[in-house]
Amino acid sequence: MSTVIATSGVFIIPGQVLEPTTVLAAPGQSEAAHDQKVIAPISEKRMYADVYHLSETIGPRVTGTEEEREAASFIRNRLQSYGYEVEVQEFRIPDKMIGHLQTSAGDEVLINIPAGSASTASEGLTAQLYDAGLGYANDFTAESAGKIALISRGDFTFQEKVENAYAAGAVGVLIYNNIESPGPLNPSIGEASIPVGGISKASGEALIADVVRNDGTVTLKVDALTDVKSQNIIATRAPKKGNNHEILHVSAHFDSVPFAPGANDNASGTAVTLELARVLKSYPIDKEIRFVFAGAEEIGLVGSRYYASQLTEDEISRSIGNFNMDMVGTSWENATAIYMNTVDGKANIVSETALATAERIGTPSELVLYQRGSSDHVAFHEVGIPAVNFIRREPGTANLEPYYHTPLDTIEHISTERLKEAGDLVGASVYQLIRK
Ligand code: BES
Ligand code: ZN
Repeated sequence: MSTVIATSGVFIIPGQVLEPTTVLAAPGQSEAAHDQKVIAPISEKRMYADVYHLSETIGPRVTGTEEEREAASFIRNRLQSYGYEVEVQEFRIPDKMIGHLQTSAGDEVLINIPAGSASTASEGLTAQLYDAGLGYANDFTAESAGKIALISRGDFTFQEKVENAYAAGAVGVLIYNNIESPGPLNPSIGEASIPVGGISKASGEALIADVVRNDGTVTLKVDALTDVKSQNIIATRAPKKGNNHEILHVSAHFDSVPFAPGANDNASGTAVTLELARVLKSYPIDKEIRFVFAGAEEIGLVGSRYYASQLTEDEISRSIGNFNMDMVGTSWENATAIYMNTVDGKANIVSETALATAERIGTPSELVLYQRGSSDHVAFHEVGIPAVNFIRREPGTANLEPYYHTPLDTIEHISTERLKEAGDLVGASVYQLIRK
């Protein structure tokens, strides 16, 4: 704690709890002092360590897996150590498909099974591969019947490729990427009558060279995992007196997509939210604050929508806003702007508060108001709560970093300065709205 701010002869040491009556400051100075109470104690080291733990120690945190559960209990334990009342809100998620692909030579091929794929018998489906090019109807011949069609991504939808393969009598489909990407392809296919999987470009080319050309076989195994659960972790702090306070929700999802360590998406937002929970745990407040750590975001905002569905009408009417952080720590050099995504593209109390805070505290990055869903702020918006998703992007293009949803979303591409910048901005904004 290096900064000490003098306000009208009263020393405010950032990080220390002071009753407002002891602060006799001129209005301008007082605001700055309040900002500093939050900003000074925010530790970039702790946030970085938490991103490290979530992304490197735990790794990919796919909805419904042991790793997602481990991340949830890490978050819960941490919040309890800060003295919060913590609720673990469990919910069911749609059945999940998991797959294995092995060549007759014994090589394992990484595969993603899309929702909507059919399952195989428990021993799997062993068949020859049929190289169907891009998978146009006339790419199939009588030879494709009874085989697993190997189809390249490109030109038209995954769903049409699968339909063409099925119509030609193929018993399964493997779609390979047409661009280099470290993880297997994640195709969206709707509902299919046969098992379908996505693989990488390299895997597709290797299967053509090693299996198709040698008349080898592969064994594809697809199982439906039923009764899978995920959870939200919620830490609440209400003012001491009364029970009818306005409520502010700060949220971040902690799950990731398959094969992605999810350092930026979204260990970053999780770590910043945890740090704000630590810093804000004991300051005097006159509104209720809830830190909402959502599971199952990457399969379609399932956790946050469940959270929103459990709010009573009374709680919704008392809710003043949602600050959602998702992808706030990338070190990608082009992502120099902090985008404030709102579902309708319009400013609201959250974006206005953040803008004013950025002016006061001198946030180095440009703030951009933008219309975009795709994160948990949507669930808050849908029940009528003003919500903003804070996310780093390239100004002008709104591009995300190239590591997004890939195995390269690792701690190596995380910036401690940017974690701190997000924490300072959102932390000081939140405190502005909830302090006494
Ligand atoms: N972290 C991203 C957030 C995001 C926001 C990405 C805005 C792109 C633009 C989030 O986890 C994500 O990947 N969302 C999905 C949609 C979601 C409903 C499954 C996406 O954008 O594809
Ligand atoms: Zn995300």
